[in-house]
Amino acid sequence: MSFRVAIIGAGPSGLAQLRAFEAAEKQGVAIPEIVCFEKQEDWGGIWNYTWRTGLDEYGEPVHGSMYRYLWSNGPKEALEFADYSFEEHFGRPIPSYPPREVLWDYIVGRVKKGNLRRFIRFRTPVRDVSYDESSGKFTVTVRDLKNDHLYSEVFDYVVVAAGHFSTPNVPEFPGLDKFPGRVLHAHDFRDAAEFAGKRVLCVGSSYSSEDIGTQCYKYGAKEITFSYRSNPMGFAFPEAFSEVPLLLKVEGKTAHFKDGTKKEVDAIILCTGYQHHFPFLPDELRLKTNNRLWPLGLYKGVVWEKNPKLFYLGMQDQYYTFNMFDVQAWFARDVMLGKVSLPSLEDMQADSAAYRVAEEAGTTPADGIDFQCGYIRDLLGRTDYPDFKPEVMAEQFKEWKHHKEENVLTYRHHSFRSIITGTLAPPLHTAWMEQKEDSLKSFLANN
Ligand SMILES: Cc1cc2nc3c(=O)[nH]c(=O)nc-3n(C[C@H](O)[C@H](O)[C@H](O)COP(=O)(O)OP(=O)(O)OC[C@H]3O[C@@H](n4cnc5c(N)ncnc54)[C@H](O)[C@@H]3O)c2cc1C
Ligand SMILES: NC(=O)c1ccc[n+]([C@@H]2O[C@H](COP(=O)([O-])OP(=O)(O)OC[C@H]3O[C@@H](n4cnc5c(N)ncnc54)[C@H](OP(=O)(O)O)[C@@H]3O)[C@@H](O)[C@H]2O)c1
Repeated sequence: MSFRVAIIGAGPSGLAQLRAFEAAEKQGVAIPEIVCFEKQEDWGGIWNYTWRTGLDEYGEPVHGSMYRYLWSNGPKEALEFADYSFEEHFGRPIPSYPPREVLWDYIVGRVKKGNLRRFIRFRTPVRDVSYDESSGKFTVTVRDLKNDHLYSEVFDYVVVAAGHFSTPNVPEFPGLDKFPGRVLHAHDFRDAAEFAGKRVLCVGSSYSSEDIGTQCYKYGAKEITFSYRSNPMGFAFPEAFSEVPLLLKVEGKTAHFKDGTKKEVDAIILCTGYQHHFPFLPDELRLKTNNRLWPLGLYKGVVWEKNPKLFYLGMQDQYYTFNMFDVQAWFARDVMLGKVSLPSLEDMQADSAAYRVAEEAGTTPADGIDFQCGYIRDLLGRTDYPDFKPEVMAEQFKEWKHHKEENVLTYRHHSFRSIITGTLAPPLHTAWMEQKEDSLKSFLANN
């Protein structure tokens, strides 16, 4: 086929795009020339763990936000690929909540099988993308880090799959500059054992705060305080935990909160979320949004409305992850292959506006889950990605929420049934709080 596609990023979203084209090729469809640019040494995106923080060995901002001992925070059955089950990958059923290395192995197992690595240029960050109206083509400028060489190539389509949980959102609080202990953002958190015996303050009340706080407790921290801006998490935490309103200032080791209370703390971890940060894109092509279920500007959450030769994958806040990226990638593929035709700009914008109204009508997590489920159902009706019954997964997500409300330290002990294979996951061999080793080897051996 005579056109060229650039994919930016080889994380779960970028790999989904490669897999989508592979699936079409297997059906006898001629596929375009594809180049996937990846700034890291290896594939798997944020699941590719690095000990590094700050800048890497080439002076590039470190992409990784994952840490040692990270376990899936949702049941694996709700993120399973419809075309590649966990059972197919591991050769047997495994528990519902695996640690990071197990999920990384699963993500890359599917693309290894398809020999998709040949499409990827590693250690090649994209520096700039520009669009030329007269030729109708993009120029993508990249740096080959290993050869220290900047070069440009021309493409007909660009897929942005660069992730949005990497560039930290770091607010200022008075007194942090003089705090006599560690202050860091969740992006730079790597090893909970560092905080053993310490009183840790986590600012933020979402997934990172909850998981980093419970990790620190698991590896020996003395006290965990969560400081919330909007709402407390409200889980039934053990006694060593407390939830307080927003941090106002720090004086020495004393943290002062909005309700007038104060606490002595030894370390402060800012679990204050991430920015959608795409410095390689010009304003007219750049998605600008906060982390939410329906960013505006993307038709069906994927197609850049103002230039429908540009696509974004995985840019929404996420209940669904890997399978949602897949169905998005299948949709983007079919637009590129001309199998899906797009409505006018006005109609695309009206469609997105209706989605935004539906997003904003939701008030509870269950509403958010149902909203994202409905969106996926819409996409499934437009592509041939296998129907993985997102409605059943939505119920799994709701059950998962209940398990967390019951006990945030044991929710990972529950087992879910795979929608793809019908198998009920075996239980975790050892209680999560007791299972300090998180390698793939120990997880598979113990379970
Ligand atoms: C701490 C943490 C824990 C998480 N845990 C879970 C979990 O338990 N379960 C779950 O389902 N999801 C989890 N997630 C969500 C996670 O974001 C998704 O699972 C998934 O990794 C998103 O895939 P992605 O490909 O869109 O982005 P990423 O995984 O971020 O991959 C993006 C890729 O693009 C590359 N890239 C970026 N910029 C450039 C550039 N300019 N040029 C070239 N390459 C570039 C990066 O190097 C990276 O490889 C977690 C996220 C975080 C931050
Ligand atoms: N596998 C795992 O166990 C695991 C662990 C960590 C993270 N994750 C994933 O990582 C992704 C990101 O999660 P996240 O928690 O980092 O980000 P997030 O869900 O976007 O939450 C950001 C949090 O920061 C708070 N915040 C933002 N600005 C603030 C400010 N100026 N002052 C105080 N608080 C502020 C927000 O408060 P408001 O509510 O007021 O906006 C919110 O609580 C999610 O997909 C999650 O699933 C997974």
